[in-house]
Amino acid sequence: MANSEVQVVIPTLNEAGNIPVLVDKLETTLAGMDWELFFVDDDSKDGTYAEIVKLVEVKNNIKAIKRVGRTGLASACFEGMMLSDSPIIVVMDADLQHDETLIPQMVYLLKSEHLDIVSASRFAVGASLEGLGNIRKRVSRLGNLMANYVMKSSLTDPLTGFFVVRREVVDKVAGSLSLSGFKILLDIYASSPRKLSGKEIPMTFKARHHGESKLSFKEFLDFGFLLLEKLFGKYLPARFLKFASVGLIGLVVHIAALALLHRAMEFPFIYSQAVATYIAMTSTFVMNNTFTFRDRKLRGASFVKGLFSFFAVCTVGALLNLALAGYAYSIGAHWLVSGFLGACAGAVWNYAINNTVTWKIRTKES
Ligand code: GDD
Ligand code: MN
Repeated sequence: MANSEVQVVIPTLNEAGNIPVLVDKLETTLAGMDWELFFVDDDSKDGTYAEIVKLVEVKNNIKAIKRVGRTGLASACFEGMMLSDSPIIVVMDADLQHDETLIPQMVYLLKSEHLDIVSASRFAVGASLEGLGNIRKRVSRLGNLMANYVMKSSLTDPLTGFFVVRREVVDKVAGSLSLSGFKILLDIYASSPRKLSGKEIPMTFKARHHGESKLSFKEFLDFGFLLLEKLFGKYLPARFLKFASVGLIGLVVHIAALALLHRAMEFPFIYSQAVATYIAMTSTFVMNNTFTFRDRKLRGASFVKGLFSFFAVCTVGALLNLALAGYAYSIGAHWLVSGFLGACAGAVWNYAINNTVTWKIRTKES
């Protein structure tokens, strides 16, 4: 299939009931345009992919990929974008909350005003929100403030999931996107080396048609880390910050377990400390698996293998920590400085090796 002028990218996770309706609506609205549609499904459990395949079989401008063992809205959108070379890319949700009839207008605005991005805003003057509860509205507003602060921009809705962007813009930022969580538009704006020219048009954010929202507390955390990465990212990747935060929680778990075993249950100190160490390591493994490395989450037998790999890596990290701290202390560094240096070296080691070994990116099924 030759590349068309407009590529619509739609990420899906459990949207079976929405697919046929959505495609119908798109066909009506985009009838006069040269367009193609790519679905990126993350192995939905409700038969979404089967619904999509039914359409792929009969329509030659619709294609789909299924990602297995991975999730993440931003990365799904990005991988969908990479599937064609159309000069104009539209990203929208599958759940009919985004008004597809705005697409022609957005594309027209992009072209006629030579813009990089046109996004549909839930908060611009003239927009309305049927589909957001009160708390979500407030949280979104706060998110907007923070996002604009980091991006030094003034979008009314930097977190919207409905926008049109030029391929050349995406190609330029492709290597710097952090691709975690939900925030692909913000990611593109924040990763661009030059200031992008963008405009917003107001939209009505409709109530969900079928299924439920996948936005969870994890996505909010993720958003916080994306902002941190854009602020400090030259020095520390967001994933490392997550890994380090999990480590701090692990420390609290360790102390709690130690207190329970040694103080409350009166086991000897050294046994309590050893058991507490493994409790803390196991809990940090689980937290890293569900949060830091959620996109490469280990399950079943891989989970058990990963746990042992994590133990081994962290044990070496602890030795490295001791060696460096011991050395610094021996040449006269303050105990606090020595301890801090050792802990940092251990953390960097643990992160780097676990990132490449325990949660390595799976290129083929293993
Ligand atoms: N492939 C894939 N993988 N798709 C996903 C994933 C995932 O891990 N998570 C969500 N999706 C798809 C959903 O199927 C839907 O088509 C779209 O992404 C948006 O997900 P929703 O779960 O409907 O999000 P929402 O309506 O709560 O969130 C809205 O507001 C966010 C900002 O606050 C959306 O407009 C988001 O796009 C927006 O970022
Ligand atoms: Mn939605």
